Amino acid sequence: MKKWQRKDLVGLENLTREEIELILSTAESFKEVSTREIKKVPALRGKTVVNLFYEPSTRTRVSFEVAAKRLSADVITIATETSSVKKGETLIDTGRNIQALKADIIVVRHNCSGAATMLARHVDISVINAGDGWHEHPTQALLDIFTLKEKYGKIEGLKVSIVGDIAHSRVARSNIWGLTKLGAKVSVCAPKMLVPVAIEQMGVRIANDIDDALKDANAVNVLRMQFERDEGTAFPQQMEYFKNFGITRERLEKAKKDIVVMHPGPLNRGIEISSAIADGANSVILEQVTNGIAIRMAVLYLVAGTKN
Ligand code: CP
Repeated sequence: MKKWQRKDLVGLENLTREEIELILSTAESFKEVSTREIKKVPALRGKTVVNLFYEPSTRTRVSFEVAAKRLSADVITIATETSSVKKGETLIDTGRNIQALKADIIVVRHNCSGAATMLARHVDISVINAGDGWHEHPTQALLDIFTLKEKYGKIEGLKVSIVGDIAHSRVARSNIWGLTKLGAKVSVCAPKMLVPVAIEQMGVRIANDIDDALKDANAVNVLRMQFERDEGTAFPQQMEYFKNFGITRERLEKAKKDIVVMHPGPLNRGIEISSAIADGANSVILEQVTNGIAIRMAVLYLVAGTKN
């Protein structure tokens, strides 16, 4: 296996299959650390990680923080609401100042697509994308893929359906890049207005309806309806959405018995998924959250290693 050579992780689009597999196998070896009584290894001792989040987050922010601490790094989280961002400081100036403070890695979440890539070009330290606009959320897709691999032992040949707000979803885009590179067969299912034009060029199939998406699927990844990105016209009525696309017990009864139900969180219960399914036997939603720590440990470790 080739050594990791990238300073940054900004997306899965440009990664090779081998690089994705290296992150997954590194995460496998780190997963055990979280089961120890003392959940810590010295791998990043002396390194400093700065979490720079311009958008709200629970899972990603906390798990990057936990992951950095489990690797013995020093970690600082900047809430942009109480930082000099509020005084008009640009993303690039903020990044350069974090670099001047001798940090080693910036983990950035931003509402603009391309923000992580732009920041990575303007600083010498590593940048990890924790979600940029509608573009990519690479560590979410990696933890989704890691969770699927734990369930099935492989990704090659799996049928995975992504259901929901594909148009606004960085999670969908990163999952499509990652899953197709690893040989999965990916379908997407959404109201027409939420399916991006030419999505088939990413190597996916558009399902005719929700029953078609669930039929024969090994896994369904249910996306959150992103009401905060709604411009007032794009979304159908919430109840209408649940009736036509919601993941319910009745719908899952027609799917494979062992279908794996995933959701990146946060959940809109009763809109894209019923509570019976979110909390039911097929759901791996909380396993995804736990696996986020191992994936983020792996990514922090690999990008930090490019400087050694
Ligand atoms: N899945 C995800 O990105 O969740 P958060 O917004 O809480 O980080």
